[in-house]
Amino acid sequence: MTTGLVTRTGRWTVVSWYRNAVVYSLDVRTFQDSNGDGIGDLAGLRSRLDYLSRLGVTVLWLSPIHPSPYRDGGYDVTNYYDVDPSLGNLGDFTLLMNECDERGLRVMLDLVVNHTSDEHPWFTSARSDPRSPYRDWYVWSTEEPADSAEGMVFPGVQERTWTYDDAAGAWYHHRFYAFQPDLNTENPEVRAEILKVLAFWERLGVSGFRIDAAPFLVERTRPGGAQGRDYSFLVEIREQMSWLRGDAVLLAEANVPDEELYEFLGHADGAANRLQMLFAFRLNEALMLALAREDGSPVRDALEALPPLPRGGAWATFLRNHDEVDLSQLAEDERAEVMAAFGPDRRHQVYGRGIRRRLASMLGNDEARLRMAYSLQLTMPGTPVIRYGDEIGMGENLDLPEREAIRTPMQWSRRANGGFSTAAPDRLLRPVVDDATYGYTHVNVTDQRLEPDSTLSWFERSLHTLRECPEVGSGTTTVLTTDAGPAVLAHRTEATTGSMLFLHNLGEEDLVVRVEEMQSEEPVEVFADRTYGRELDLTALALAPRGFRWIRLRRGPADPLPGPEEVRDEETGPPAWTSA
Ligand code: NOJ
Ligand code: CA
Repeated sequence: MTTGLVTRTGRWTVVSWYRNAVVYSLDVRTFQDSNGDGIGDLAGLRSRLDYLSRLGVTVLWLSPIHPSPYRDGGYDVTNYYDVDPSLGNLGDFTLLMNECDERGLRVMLDLVVNHTSDEHPWFTSARSDPRSPYRDWYVWSTEEPADSAEGMVFPGVQERTWTYDDAAGAWYHHRFYAFQPDLNTENPEVRAEILKVLAFWERLGVSGFRIDAAPFLVERTRPGGAQGRDYSFLVEIREQMSWLRGDAVLLAEANVPDEELYEFLGHADGAANRLQMLFAFRLNEALMLALAREDGSPVRDALEALPPLPRGGAWATFLRNHDEVDLSQLAEDERAEVMAAFGPDRRHQVYGRGIRRRLASMLGNDEARLRMAYSLQLTMPGTPVIRYGDEIGMGENLDLPEREAIRTPMQWSRRANGGFSTAAPDRLLRPVVDDATYGYTHVNVTDQRLEPDSTLSWFERSLHTLRECPEVGSGTTTVLTTDAGPAVLAHRTEATTGSMLFLHNLGEEDLVVRVEEMQSEEPVEVFADRTYGRELDLTALALAPRGFRWIRLRRGPADPLPGPEEVRDEETGPPAWTSA
């Protein structure tokens, strides 16, 4: 299924849904508790769908919802065909899907199949008997591999990647924590089972999956070191999903260098034939560096370094997610700069590479800077992913271990427990943030709804405006030169539906920006940090400190009108418009 847009000239052009979407990432357990047991659940989420609809998001990406001992936020699954009982049951899930359908909201799930929990019955069987049918579902070594203490994803907390198991009498591989044994995805039986898992949830109505730990899923793991990657499984996954549901989307979590990254999309006849979407980790780091330096150049460089994606490919942009801000791929001095600006305290830092804070607190709760940062994200090429609670500017709780600091309950109101749950506070899954700045009595949905200039009201406006600007998700982005100095980033996006200009001032000075190459007969301001006046002179555009402006330059295709070929190139799938 696709959405269509009628351009100014009356032509019909197709935009794949995921290129004009806004993804909202949430953990059901910390969103809304419906039965007073202190744990968020599916019924609670259902009761908040009107809020999400009004906010303007179009896709809910749910953190793992399967039965789990929750030693890694549910990324340690014990049964892929069910819902954890603390969240409800499969019936509750189907009710959620119904109500999402009613509101036109799509749902994506996390597919966590690089590993299972060590309590999964497959692993229990595999470890207990060398003749178990599940033995070869995991990755074993009879000797201690030479690399058993290398390649940890959580250094400082995780000590090894191969652990000896007494019951098995062998070493098993685990890229993540020791309680997450890696599945052997080279085994065709394991692949077949994973395809069944995909089919199961697809039948229950999900629109796609975020593929957890994609690089490790396709790694050929051997004692002594991985033997490269085998991407064929991604093609199998894609083929099956496309057969089951033509518009299903697969989003890869792969924080790897660009050359490797494009392998996850694949390329056949100019089109992506593996996964369709990639998290833009490089852009995320560049955004962090730019915000830290108050200088647009790192984003300019990152945008210029992004090669065009194959047809159907798309970026998922983000500022914050449910993990730490991962700065591992920055140069050492750049990483130090970002740390000094946004995570100076040891308690802010984790795994020697990241920051375990929410964006509002990283930016010192500076409202203007926060909005400018999100405006930057929303106007970057791709589909924005927003983390629950960021729309009201929530903070973190550094007393909680590792990444749990940023996984506190959603703050709905000033009521007890922030309206998250009616349980006694000491029975909550995690405490609600209750400090003098970010506590639920200061930062909550109910108060911000009444305030037209709140962070929440700003998000509602910006997301709805973005959805009127399909150029961002499907167009081609160019960075422009201005005479305003490094604090300004000016970029333009061009598509058959129109053209837009975006200006951001990362610094603290009032500026006037001249964008020379720019021409437009009727420029229209569609969104900005303040009112800049009705007259728009592209050779002298005022820009407040931390200001931003979204200016529509054109509706409809540029002259001369593109031929059908050109439209087809830009979009996914078969040509879907005919000339009038
Ligand atoms: C990546 C997820 O984002 C993270 O939260 C999790 O701990 C690991 N994968 C392991 O599944
Ligand atoms: Ca509950």
